[in-house]
Amino acid sequence: MIWCGLLCGIFGCICGGAVPVLIDGLRRLEYRGYDSVGFAVISGGRVLVVKDKGNIDEFLSKIDIDSVESEIGIGHTRWATHGAPCKENAHPHLDCTGSIAVVHNGVLENFLDLRSGLQARGHRFASNTDSEVIAHLIEEGVMSGMCLKDALAAASRKIRGSMAVAAISSAEPDRIVCFRRESPLVVGMGPGGVYCASDILAMVKYATEAYHVPEGSLATLTRVGLSFEGPGGDRIDPPSLKISLEPGAVERGGYKHFMLKEIHEQPIAVSNTLRIYREYIDRAALLLHGKRVLLTGSGTSYHACLCASYLMSSLGVDAMAVISSELQEYLKGQPLSGSAVVAVSQSGETADTLGAIRHAKRLGARVIGITNTLSSSITNISDAYLCTQGGPEIGVAATKSFLTQLVVLEMLSFRTALAAGSISKQECEEAYEEMGALPAKIGGIIQRLESVREIALKYSDRRDAFFLGRGINVATALEGALKLKEISYIHAEGYPAGESKHGPISLVEPGFLCVFVSPMDSTRQRIIGNIMEMKARGAEIFSVLTEGDSELIEVSDGYFEVPESPEYLYPVLCTVPLQALAYYVAIYKGLDPDRPRNLAKSVTVL
Ligand code: F6R
Repeated sequence: MIWCGLLCGIFGCICGGAVPVLIDGLRRLEYRGYDSVGFAVISGGRVLVVKDKGNIDEFLSKIDIDSVESEIGIGHTRWATHGAPCKENAHPHLDCTGSIAVVHNGVLENFLDLRSGLQARGHRFASNTDSEVIAHLIEEGVMSGMCLKDALAAASRKIRGSMAVAAISSAEPDRIVCFRRESPLVVGMGPGGVYCASDILAMVKYATEAYHVPEGSLATLTRVGLSFEGPGGDRIDPPSLKISLEPGAVERGGYKHFMLKEIHEQPIAVSNTLRIYREYIDRAALLLHGKRVLLTGSGTSYHACLCASYLMSSLGVDAMAVISSELQEYLKGQPLSGSAVVAVSQSGETADTLGAIRHAKRLGARVIGITNTLSSSITNISDAYLCTQGGPEIGVAATKSFLTQLVVLEMLSFRTALAAGSISKQECEEAYEEMGALPAKIGGIIQRLESVREIALKYSDRRDAFFLGRGINVATALEGALKLKEISYIHAEGYPAGESKHGPISLVEPGFLCVFVSPMDSTRQRIIGNIMEMKARGAEIFSVLTEGDSELIEVSDGYFEVPESPEYLYPVLCTVPLQALAYYVAIYKGLDPDRPRNLAKSVTVL
């Protein structure tokens, strides 16, 4: 079993009384992960590592930090994503000599190859993390005569994948060396010392000046200051940043609300999720092979299941989605030996979903859990599990967890169809390639979300709204309606657009808001008919549509354009403006989108 850390937090410092500063910095990064924590310092000429599973308070209850004296250290707070969090897998990791310590945030794509090569050359591994290979690669560089910085640079050239790394060595006890590729890393200095961290917020109390380490670059921290080397080994001087943030913004990454922060994190969350090792997806796909697939979840997670059921069916996989709280009634006592259940949950603790899994297992089904929380009850009771790589989601309304669930389910759908022989290898590869373009497309949408703010102002006084879609985007419409109703308390109903004329349309009168999810897919012509039916009754039409769709723009009162995509990816793209719409409407109504009334992030009652 392989463990790898994503969206973890790293912090390092050279200053008087390093250990309390390390703990304080890590505490400020705990929002990035909290299932294990650790630090390494140089004390008495040796590297000393203290680490354990659990959050910082649990960690501190087991150690006496006053007994460790040091002026230099690196620390880590981890959000495990593949495998149970435990002491061995907590960072920092050491090389074979115990003189080099490393903390890492990111995911190394070729670490299996690197690890077997290192093992063949006699290196002993103490953990199952991908990160530990970095310590051993640095060790090889140092053994061949390199300094710590050059050895880290050499290691980074062998590694593929994302990495923000900080390393110390007892042989060079005056410095911390850092490297960054794709994962965030900031260094800073203040009157009392120098610092490095995954997030500038961790050092606001100490640093007066900070620098984002440029992509592919190294930073060296010493008592006398900071220096930087670009990807070509040349000395560089990145621009400095002024540190000024209100203290409450620390945990929220500078955003006003967690929900907004989490909407903005979606490109990286999706990109990390796309890195899930194919072998895990393949193993899960084999469990589904030849079986009837029942997808189950609650709320937003059910909407992800509904999307996947459309996609799987279109790829020749016998699939259907059932709301978790209804699964038992739906199945009654029918034997499930020919079925597999895919249970989807952000928290991994939802009582309805746990109940559905237990019931399905009693009836003989094999269960794959898809959660965002590795050490959760659902991952524990499932026969196999896949972790979405969204990192902690704090806002009560699900945002990035939905997009990452969609991506995992899409990968699983294509690999299941490939295993069943209903699509070719090339078709599967093409789908993966299309999915690879998602982070950039989502990033482009996020840059344009300000326009949704104006639309939200216009709609914030509405009492009711319909969200309508067809095909796979019925689920998108349901999700858009759920977001609006749960945080802005506007009565919003998601409906299949074609069904709206069978009753709901009687509510429509002039000015009634109808949000259409109507990208350029196979349902578009029919959905135009539905739009016209609503318009004829005076409804106000807001459409989420494909860029340049002038015909639809013409018939809409407001619209948001998403980039052209294959049909199965539109739910990912079209959801983002709907999340923003709900967020801004709540803001205009003076509501706190992170804490909607009557709701909890994790619903552990039936
Ligand atoms: C909606 C929302 C809820 C959850 C539901 C399931 O924004 O957050 O509807 O989706 O309670 O929770 P998980 O995914 O943790 O099982």
